[in-house]
Formats: sequence, structure tokens, C-alpha cells
Amino acid sequence: MDELLQQIENYKQEVTAYNASTQDELETYRIKFLGTKGIVKTVLGEMKNVPNESKKEFGLILNAFKVFTEEKFEQLKESISANGQQVSSKIDWSLPGDPVPAGTRHPLSIVRNQMVSIFKRLGFAVAEGPEIEDDWHNFTALNLPENHPARDMQDTFYLHQNPDYLLRTHTSSVQARIMEKQKPPIRIVCPGRVYRNETISARAHCFFHQVEGLYVDENVSFADLKQTLYFFVKEMFGDAKVRFRPSYFPFTEPSAEMDISCTVCGGKGCSLCKHTGWVEILGCGMVHPKMLDNFGIDSENYTGFAFGMGVERICQLKFRVNDLRLYSQNDIRFLRQFTGAV
Ligand code: PHE
Repeated sequence: MDELLQQIENYKQEVTAYNASTQDELETYRIKFLGTKGIVKTVLGEMKNVPNESKKEFGLILNAFKVFTEEKFEQLKESISANGQQVSSKIDWSLPGDPVPAGTRHPLSIVRNQMVSIFKRLGFAVAEGPEIEDDWHNFTALNLPENHPARDMQDTFYLHQNPDYLLRTHTSSVQARIMEKQKPPIRIVCPGRVYRNETISARAHCFFHQVEGLYVDENVSFADLKQTLYFFVKEMFGDAKVRFRPSYFPFTEPSAEMDISCTVCGGKGCSLCKHTGWVEILGCGMVHPKMLDNFGIDSENYTGFAFGMGVERICQLKFRVNDLRLYSQNDIRFLRQFTGAV
């Protein structure tokens, strides 16, 4: 029996000295001491040779040895994971990571950002305002008093509970809000969503996006307006041709609409430009003196120009999107085509 006791003592020393720094070494320890044919099992098997009167005493010793080896196993396991070592040897840390797919910006955001950044380079600041607007800022202040026939140009959604409020039909409402609280010089662009009561089709939608601009200062002329818009077209479309046509807006006088040569067919004629070679991209004009006076800006001393355009139209010309509905359908196959653009 002394022999067995001695042997257990030796094993204990071996267990104490055992060091495992990898999962494999830990496994070797487990098999050697705690496995089905391991040392602990073998030593416990010796019980049958122990004389009955010593069985109790030996039983305690053998059990303590078993607990001792098991505790060591737990210690080794903990120290390996604390080391940040491989808890499971099945992980290959040298493998390249899974790519995280980067999302893409919505084409309208891409184009709006480009538009705004062009005007920023000319010194325009960005101004924003509410989408739910009152009649004054959307119409009356812009020289469109109640019952003015030009209100029909923009089919308006009025708020059911309170028809004094409406969904803004253009971001000119933001220009009104700025003129209300700021004195010239004013040089702003107003990007934002607008709403009109139109039947949804490939060519019309009940909401769309605009970037409108306003410049009010001393000696602002129609030539300034033209140069600003020429610069915009050159930056946005390169060498497209430009033409102005006389038009009418209640808030500008004189007013014009601006066309560019069709970027799809290069001016030869296609379905986008309805075979005319020209596409209308914006409305513009010199701010009506009455509008300046509405905001206490002296129209004797100050003049201004304003313009407004649809982001969807610019986007259509840039990316050849032929159906307005695509912009809001969230079809991933459509949206994914704009990867890489910023
Ligand atoms: N607000 C006009 C529209 O939405 C566009 C415009 C803005 C025209 C400024 C002239 C001057 O149609």
C-alpha cells in the first residue's frame, strides 16, 4: 500500500508541474489524467486490492487525488482562455475577414448633394424649412393671394383637420421664411421634398424633390442669374447647351424657364426630350418687387433672382432613370446600381 501512496504522491507532483498553453496540451492532460483509461481511473481501480480495514482511509486519499487533478484541469482551461489563446483550435485566425457590405446612397441624395455642393461653391448657404406649411409662406407671401389663378398650377394637398395648413408645393416657402427673418445680402439654396396632388405615373408623382435658390442684394441682375445657372449646368452636365424661354411665375418678373440640350440623345431627339432635343430643367426669374416688399426688403434698393428645379429631373438626365416611381419603390436591384457614387 505504501507503494500506491508513493505513486499517488508522484502523480500529484506531475499534475502540479503540468503546464498547458494550447488547447492541444490541455487535451493531452485530460486524456492522460482524466480519460477513460487515464491515471485517475487506474488509481481508483486499485481500490479493489486495498484490504477492507484500510478502504475508508484510502477511499478518502484517492478521492482527494481525483478532485486535485480535476481542479488542475479547470485551472489550465481558464488560463488558456484568459491568455486569449485559442479556446477552440478549430478557429483559423489568419483567415481574411468577411467583407461588410457598404450601403449605397439613394440616387436622389447623390444628385441633390452634387447640386447643393455646386451652389455652395458660388457662396450659397443651405436653408431648410417645414414640409407642413401655412398658406402665407407657400402662397400668399409669394404674391399668390387667395383665388389667384396661378394657385392651380400646383395641385395642393390641404390638411384635412385644418385647411389653413398644407403640404408645401415648392421649397419657395423656405425662401419666404428666410426673407422674413434675414436682411440682404441673402444667398441660399433650399433642398427638400415637396408635394402635389398628381396621379402617380412614370412621369408624375405626388411627391418629389426640389432645390430652389434665392439671391437678394444690391445690383443683382438677370445677367447674374444667367451666369449662375450656366455655371451650374457646366458643372453638372459638362458641355450641354442652354436656352432660356420667357415664362410666368407670380413671384418673379421677368420669369423664364431654362432648357438644356438632351443629355440622352445629345440633342438629336429621343423619347425623353419628346423629339425636340431640349429638356426643361428649371424655372427662374427676378424676384418680384412685391415679394421683397412683403418682407420689408426695400425693392428700390435691392433686387434678387430666384430659381427652382426638380432633383428627379436632374437625376433622370444624369442616370437615365426613365420612371419616377423607381425612386420610391425601394427596389434593391435599382438602388444597387448606384454603388461607388457619393
Ligand atoms: N417654385 C417654382 C416651382 O416650384 C419654381 C421657381 C422658383 C420658379 C423660383 C421661379 C423662381 O415650380
